[in-house]
Amino acid sequence: MLTNLWYVAEWSREVKDKPVRVKLLGQNFVLFRDKTGKVNCLSDVCIHRGGSLSKGWTTERDCVACPYHGWEFDAEGKVKFIPSRGEGAPVPERARIDAYPTEERYGMIWVFLGDLPEEERYPIPDFPEYEDSDNWRPIELEYNWTGSADRVLENGIDISHTAFVHPGFGYPEMADKNKILKVDRGEYWGSSDNVLYPPQLSGNLGLMKLFRADKAATNVTPSFFLPGYCVRLHIKINSWMETIIFDANTPVDENTTRSFAIQARNFFKWRIFDFGAKKRTTKVFGEDGAIVSELSPNYLPETLEHEVSVEQDKFMSAWRMIRRKHIEEKGWKIDTKAMKPFEGEKAFTIPSPARRANPHLNWALETVPLVAPIRSSAPVQEEETPEPELA
Ligand code: FES
Ligand SMILES: [Fe+2]
Repeated sequence: MLTNLWYVAEWSREVKDKPVRVKLLGQNFVLFRDKTGKVNCLSDVCIHRGGSLSKGWTTERDCVACPYHGWEFDAEGKVKFIPSRGEGAPVPERARIDAYPTEERYGMIWVFLGDLPEEERYPIPDFPEYEDSDNWRPIELEYNWTGSADRVLENGIDISHTAFVHPGFGYPEMADKNKILKVDRGEYWGSSDNVLYPPQLSGNLGLMKLFRADKAATNVTPSFFLPGYCVRLHIKINSWMETIIFDANTPVDENTTRSFAIQARNFFKWRIFDFGAKKRTTKVFGEDGAIVSELSPNYLPETLEHEVSVEQDKFMSAWRMIRRKHIEEKGWKIDTKAMKPFEGEKAFTIPSPARRANPHLNWALETVPLVAPIRSSAPVQEEETPEPELA
């Protein structure tokens, strides 16, 4: 699991006037709205005696109160009021917990879990179609996986599995006709153009037969973004029918992933078609979930030494390379193994921007250990390049 990225913590609609607990990167956080309606995110561990702030309440001071002794924490994580000391009594400067930047976009609450200053953060991925309600109809979906977010993201951009895992999308006989046409990548994202030959959809989209021939070439463009562990799958069914599935795949812990997904379509935009669209996309998630939960190991192998790859895996290799760069050069990977001996004994927290800016504070909670970087800015090693196609 990587720090220093934006992640989706919850749907906007789920956070109203009460604090809400969310778990990301193996840690608990509290979300609460202040009087202006802004969502705030704090570590869920009270630095007095370890109370869970998400079990408390919001207060007149625009704070969240700990349910144990009533200490009140503001949006910056600073204690504003300690009831046992009385109104107006000074609060120790050290009485502060980590607070994280938040943004609401696409009906989701995004939190930046790391200590990078604003100008160094990778942006939340764009999803312009979500705002374009004249041309696109979005629906929300959620899926909970048994599997690491790395495996889930890799599954989301893997085109060659569709022929076997998704009967609505492909069929084994056409597996060797699916082609990657192009791969692009940047520092924290990748995109690939593909052509697939899916069978005609059945069910209430039976009327699709009017618009699209069975097994007609379909252009599919999967993209991934490290921020949010997002996958964007753009499917061009024919010259005027397109679907986009945008999902943020939040690492709840090492082997649990929560996907916040929006499917947008530019055809049949009436509400009456939402139910069928939701049902079909949920089925697709379920088909993937059954495969991902059985993968060995549960986590992504750190090298390709113990796997065999072919030409059609090259987009996944691009994803792995970018991920590895952020582990080996930037040192953003949480060292969960180093935390294991302290389970139940010690509370950890993800370092926040304010912690980095105020190191003199002698912060009460320890931060999660990170895997030390092993190279500086050496070029990406070639070992991740897929082997030539097997004969
Ligand atoms: S444990 Fe939170 S106020 Fe005491
Ligand atoms: Fe899939």
